[in-house]
Amino acid sequence: LTPVVETDVLIVGAGPAGATAAALLSTYGIANVVLNKYAGVSNTPRAHITNQRGVEVLRDLGLEGEVTRNATPQHLMGEHVYATSLAGQELGRLRTWYTHPHFKAEHDLASPTSVCDLPQHVLEPILVNAAASRGSSVRFNTELLTFTQDDDGVTALVKDRLTGQEYGIRSKYLIGADGGNSTVAAQAGLPLVGKMGLGGSINVVFEADLTRFVEHRPGDMYWFVQPGVGHDGNGIGVLRMVRPWTKWVGVWGYDVNAGRPSLTEEDGVRIAHQLIGDDQVPVKVESISTWAVNDVYATDNMAGRVICVGDAVHRHSPMNGLGSNTSIQDSYNLCWKLAMVLRGEAAPALLDSYRDERLPVAKQIVQRAKRSDGLMPPIFMALRLPPASGAPELRDALDALLRPTAEGAERRQDFDAALRATIMCFNTHGVETNQHYTSGAIVPDGTPEQPAPRDEEIYHFASTRPGRHLPHVWLTKDQQRVSTFDLCGRGRFTLLTGVDGAAWREAAERVAERLGVPVRVRSIGRGCEFEDSYGDYRALSEVAEDGALLVRPDHMVAWRSATAADDPEAALSAALGQILGLT
Ligand code: FDA
Repeated sequence: LTPVVETDVLIVGAGPAGATAAALLSTYGIANVVLNKYAGVSNTPRAHITNQRGVEVLRDLGLEGEVTRNATPQHLMGEHVYATSLAGQELGRLRTWYTHPHFKAEHDLASPTSVCDLPQHVLEPILVNAAASRGSSVRFNTELLTFTQDDDGVTALVKDRLTGQEYGIRSKYLIGADGGNSTVAAQAGLPLVGKMGLGGSINVVFEADLTRFVEHRPGDMYWFVQPGVGHDGNGIGVLRMVRPWTKWVGVWGYDVNAGRPSLTEEDGVRIAHQLIGDDQVPVKVESISTWAVNDVYATDNMAGRVICVGDAVHRHSPMNGLGSNTSIQDSYNLCWKLAMVLRGEAAPALLDSYRDERLPVAKQIVQRAKRSDGLMPPIFMALRLPPASGAPELRDALDALLRPTAEGAERRQDFDAALRATIMCFNTHGVETNQHYTSGAIVPDGTPEQPAPRDEEIYHFASTRPGRHLPHVWLTKDQQRVSTFDLCGRGRFTLLTGVDGAAWREAAERVAERLGVPVRVRSIGRGCEFEDSYGDYRALSEVAEDGALLVRPDHMVAWRSATAADDPEAALSAALGQILGLT
């Protein structure tokens, strides 16, 4: 095969993972080609929760404004109602996505960004436009067929699906961002553990003005205990907001063992009406699709010059909204490393840290989503409903919940407890924000790992211990509010120091010049370029005014010095050299 196209990085897939990788690499000045086997971006809403760490990547790309303009904001996402239908009897509510005042404070303190609802068919064009306008060559209707790799690069055989023509693309690295049926992961032989096709879901995308049912209880998901959902009798159907309050996805179950159902538009209208609980509401069905819940993660995510990101290496249920966010963050972890290796600023060994850092995250999020799935069946156990029961049994169970008897009280207590427990399907701020790493791209400072004072799945834990994410605090520059995150990122290492950090600034300049690696230096504190107006940086940085934090382009603390060093140049040089594999 004689390749006709050459590039530095070939990205297979233009979903959240691939489009983020393309946008990042182009922003970093790295040539790349990105393939999407379909004619356009996702044509259905698919993933939608965009959490703070996801938005932070988009902020670093300069896209947060566009995201905010196009997303449904947090305050319209949080009222999750459990009911018999949208018009039917309410069974309880949860305040999700950190809209409860207690969690709202935690949420706002952790990041300059806010969780939002950004459906995938709206997110993807933002990323693809950014990638294309910054230099990515985006090829729709182009499918990867096979690839081979050697010591110097990867040769891929691709097919133009419009013309049928096949041609070769030669790249130095290949990113497999080709989703849950990844050809790249399969051909690279990446081992997967877990099960595919565990539960079937039917997504009915439809237009209907449901304002009168929801504007007093605004949320992005409404959960209905109904007969006939799924293959096991009663289940939970979901109405998911796509655009408030006129566009929706109705989610209904099907038995995966019976194969994909073939559904007509009338079926779609019927499902929508059953979820709404009012068949007089005008409904216009836009699309009907099916998808299966998986519970799979890879135990390796790279093979030589082929590296997989996103659903290619972790597949799980939508619970906790971790799918596209984790995919975006995989690419955020990988792309600065690839850029530095390709520019000759780091040894190829730096790429191994992608494996060490993201494999544990993949496993953690798949297991979290699985445990969250397990929180729904107790609702039916609390209703005392046997498996495969039908509509009459459900009616009786719901009536029993209202009875003013001791048995009714017990049922109410069990039901409310089961319902409240499902908060872990939505409010796992720690799972989202506490991902931390141990790898060759992190230099330990010898301090012992501090146990988090509160449940690390639920609560954000701010720490600058190397391997942790830089904490966010608001600083002031020229009377403008600036996040610590805004001082860092954009593909570069940053050294943060304090009032007494002049020696670190000089050291960084010398080390950067000697290693040929740009390092920006920012000083924070009284009289510095960034004022620590509220004292929050002093409270959270865990280093003195003459200490320093070395922050990676992906906002992770790579190394720190609690106080001044005898020889700051030697200390910084050793740390950066170790991270980049230059020693
Ligand atoms: P993604 O699947 O988004 O993208 C893969 C890309 O690779 C596509 O551009 C595709 O065209 C391309 N591709 C594949 N094979 C190729 C080949 N051989 N050659 C070239 N291109 C190729 N999650 C969630 O949190 N909430 C939800 O409600 C849903 N709903 C949902 C519905 C449906 C129908 C699906 C399929 C998935 C979801 N998800 C979801 C999951 C969520 O969409 C998923 O986690 C992210 O899209 C993963 O992003 P990736 O970029 O990794 O893969």
